[in-house]
Amino acid sequence: MKWYFAKRTSALLALLIFPHWAFAVEDRPFTESVVIFNTICAKCHEAQCSGRLSFDDALEKSANHILRHYGPASGKQWIQKELFDILNYMKEKCAYYPSNSSVPLKKTWDSDVLEEFSTLLDRNYFLPVGSLSPGSYRLVFELEKDIRATVHLISEEFDMVVDDCFDSSNKRIDIKFSVEDSGHYFFRMYPREPAKITRLSITKS
Ligand code: HEC
Repeated sequence: MKWYFAKRTSALLALLIFPHWAFAVEDRPFTESVVIFNTICAKCHEAQCSGRLSFDDALEKSANHILRHYGPASGKQWIQKELFDILNYMKEKCAYYPSNSSVPLKKTWDSDVLEEFSTLLDRNYFLPVGSLSPGSYRLVFELEKDIRATVHLISEEFDMVVDDCFDSSNKRIDIKFSVEDSGHYFFRMYPREPAKITRLSITKS
């Protein structure tokens, strides 16, 4: 009982002293912005590691620029601000913005989970797939229809392990790849026409 109380109290105290922890827990809106940034903005801003932060007034100055590349952020100041913060994070830490979503142990994702990691209009996907150790793997995903898509698998250091264009057959894309360096990896897909991914898995081969 006492221990439980002590734990609760210290958690509360921590929240009072470090309010940004509470913020870090509630990062759901951020997932959307992280996906937008790492698919659309990444075409030019990926691995921009200048270490130099943008000035606060750069957000206002770049609003038009942001909207030109992502129209749906129009009137949604919070998305513009999040995209701006994510760019600053990348510049300073030279890393992808951290994700709070847990990676399934079996590295298998179903459509409702995948939905969260895609942009609504174009169905671009950006999904943290967790850590991979050196070895050979298969990345398989199923789609709602046959399409042609650019697929990337990227290390946390921005090295491309997979970077190619694929035609699905029987609504499926099956890719063999090998990993040399242990670390966290990220899946990205740009479909030629929007198509939902209904299932994705990574297995050792
Ligand atoms: C076609 C390439 C391209 C795309 C796509 C793009 N940008 Fe940019 N962006 C630039 C260039 C070039 C600059 C000016 C040079 C710089 O600061 O990197 C810039 C500048 C910025 C700045 C100002 C930085 C500063 O320090 O003043 C912000 C903020 C920004 N972009 C955010 C975004 C966001 C958010 C997206 C996605 C919605 C995006 N950009 C998409 C090319 C692009």
